[in-house]
Amino acid sequence: MLTFDEEIKPNEQALGMMRTSTFDDVQGMQLQQARSKTNSVPMTPEKTVSTGRIRVEDKRIINCNADVNQLVPFKYKWAWEKYLSACANHWMPQEVNMTADIALWKSDRLTDDERLLIKRNLGFFSTADSLAANNIVLGTYRHISNPECRQYLLRQAFEEAIHTHAYQYIVESLGLDDGEIFNMYHEVESIRAKDEFLLPFIDVLTNPEFKTGTPQADQDLLRSLIVFACIMEGLFFYVGFVQILALGRQNKMTGAAEQYQYILRDESMHLNFGVDVINQIKMENPHLWTAEFREEIRGLMQKGVELEYAYAEDTMPRGVLGLNATMFKEYLRFIANRRCQQIGVDILYPGATNPFPWMAEMIDLKKEKNFFETRVTEYQTGGALSWD
Ligand SMILES: [Fe+2]
Ligand SMILES: [Fe+2]
Repeated sequence: MLTFDEEIKPNEQALGMMRTSTFDDVQGMQLQQARSKTNSVPMTPEKTVSTGRIRVEDKRIINCNADVNQLVPFKYKWAWEKYLSACANHWMPQEVNMTADIALWKSDRLTDDERLLIKRNLGFFSTADSLAANNIVLGTYRHISNPECRQYLLRQAFEEAIHTHAYQYIVESLGLDDGEIFNMYHEVESIRAKDEFLLPFIDVLTNPEFKTGTPQADQDLLRSLIVFACIMEGLFFYVGFVQILALGRQNKMTGAAEQYQYILRDESMHLNFGVDVINQIKMENPHLWTAEFREEIRGLMQKGVELEYAYAEDTMPRGVLGLNATMFKEYLRFIANRRCQQIGVDILYPGATNPFPWMAEMIDLKKEKNFFETRVTEYQTGGALSWD
């Protein structure tokens, strides 16, 4: 066993294998750049990155050759503003009091159907946000070549960690079998089907060989961004959000519902950021947005609705809380139409209406006017500094 008195000897072989860039290497590279006659640094055989002062007009969301280390001058103010709003909305799971949830879970006041719904709900979310975080950190971040968007992505990645923490906190508070919950994405068919649909699109971006810069690769990136923002965060989360928030509206699982309310607020900003990125890429690269590509997106959205509906049926086999799977069919069609409109694709389900209009209020609620009137901590101070 290692003690504090023992001298730690570096394992030379392991160090050799794991060695990455050191500070000296980086300084050496910078010196080399400074000496370069051309004021540009080769990155790959095809790409060069300018080391000169950055100009707003050189900034682009993808395939940018302006220095990504210079955050300002801003070009995409919407990205920076979302970063500031996200920081102002900071929250942590352990601030939420779970006492009432624990008492309810231990009592006989929840039906078997309600318990199944809660467990399958957590079964999807407990691993979904880790998938989301990996997609951002190991995939998307590398391919978005704009610093203000990257700044938001860093914040978004941390929020995904907070969400995973929240689900773990609920599982632990209720004393659920964590092996059962965290393995549902392998073991429950309707959850596995959603994740299996997503994985190929995540794999594209996390593949170390993948590079943007050709119309084909740029379309691959755009497709994955649309699937992530509009189908994963924008559709696959919504049956689960409605279920737990509906419980909260009936004064059940109010602690969990409060956490889901904060998560929903974060996720709606993730979605809006994703939509802004997608639309900006379309504007800067109109050749990617072909009729064929748009049709493909509609097909993916339709598949997403089918998968999420199967999940609704699986979590509510008999209808529960005054909700049933058929209401969710209409809701998912309504949401899918909205996602299509947001990115400029023809809607799939004309005439679909929203059976849960109260969901809109859930997204907009501020912490100080909390619906469930539980304890809140207000972080909303960022960006409000004044020296007068
Ligand atoms: Fe999340
Ligand atoms: Fe998210």
